[in-house]
Amino acid sequence: MHCQVSTMLLSPSYYYSMMVASSITFFLTVLCCRLLGQQKKGKVRPEQSECEMNDNHEDSFSVLPCIRNRRSIFPNQYMAHPGADVDPKVIKSLLDAALWGPYHGRCFAGCDHPARFVVLGKRSMVEMQHLTLRYYDRNWKTLDPWGCGADNDGDESEERYRDWRKSTEDEITGRWGPVSCMVAIVMRRQTSPVSKRLPEWEEAAAVACAVHNMHLQQCARFPHLACYWSSWHDAARDSDDMKTFLDMGAEDKCMGFFVVAQAKPSFLRQTRDRRKRDPSIMQTEWRP
Ligand SMILES: Cc1cc2nc3c(=O)[nH]c(=O)nc-3n(C[C@H](O)[C@H](O)[C@H](O)COP(=O)(O)O)c2cc1C
Repeated sequence: MHCQVSTMLLSPSYYYSMMVASSITFFLTVLCCRLLGQQKKGKVRPEQSECEMNDNHEDSFSVLPCIRNRRSIFPNQYMAHPGADVDPKVIKSLLDAALWGPYHGRCFAGCDHPARFVVLGKRSMVEMQHLTLRYYDRNWKTLDPWGCGADNDGDESEERYRDWRKSTEDEITGRWGPVSCMVAIVMRRQTSPVSKRLPEWEEAAAVACAVHNMHLQQCARFPHLACYWSSWHDAARDSDDMKTFLDMGAEDKCMGFFVVAQAKPSFLRQTRDRRKRDPSIMQTEWRP
């Protein structure tokens, strides 16, 4: 028996089987490490809610994966012909999330939130874009720069304006065509009837928190959607025309638009998250 075993151990077929087995083990180990590494680096499928993707470290900080999974998705990734618009119930749930953003002021009946949202459907989005073009048509000569970063310095700039105008008009059906709605983000000044006037920065910060909540809700619950916060064209956004269009108070501020569209299926399938949020990009200081 002993002799048989030692003969077997010394046989070439034994060594060959051992080599094959250890190669397979090595290959599987490398594969597992790579898959785990990819997950840690944030290579995620967006249709998978990251709330379900805790790794060990984050289990104890379970909201962090949801926060990390929030991401801006831009028009080149929108489904060109989505069929139906996004269900208003979905938009309503985004607005519900916004409502729970913090604001300085006593949050009881009678104290309004500083954020005001105007949901622009297809027709209103087009109106808003025509308003933008009309505003620049009237004002581009006196705006420096007039919105595309070009200097306003003579005849040449008129040609450049015409180019910009053409491409911006084309965007109505091109870039923005697939968008289901744009939610205008408005900061209302001095919203509380009972407390003293809050500083403007606090109201702007509260609006940003509300928008962030909206984006978190979208990414966590409706990952097939593709959204981002657009500042829009500065001068038109800050114009009186926009104030009138959005029915804003004199001191209210339009802070851009939350763009809501449906993501391309190919984007949902293949995307990898290339964003870098290395702690070194944010200054922090710890004091005893
Ligand atoms: C206040 C604000 C305004 C923004 N305006 C624009 C904009 O006008 N155009 C744009 O492409 N992205 C805009 N963004 C989106 C940023 O580009 C985006 O947040 C950034 O690339 C980081 O990506 P993430 O949101 O996926 O983490 C804005 C974001 C914020 C917070």
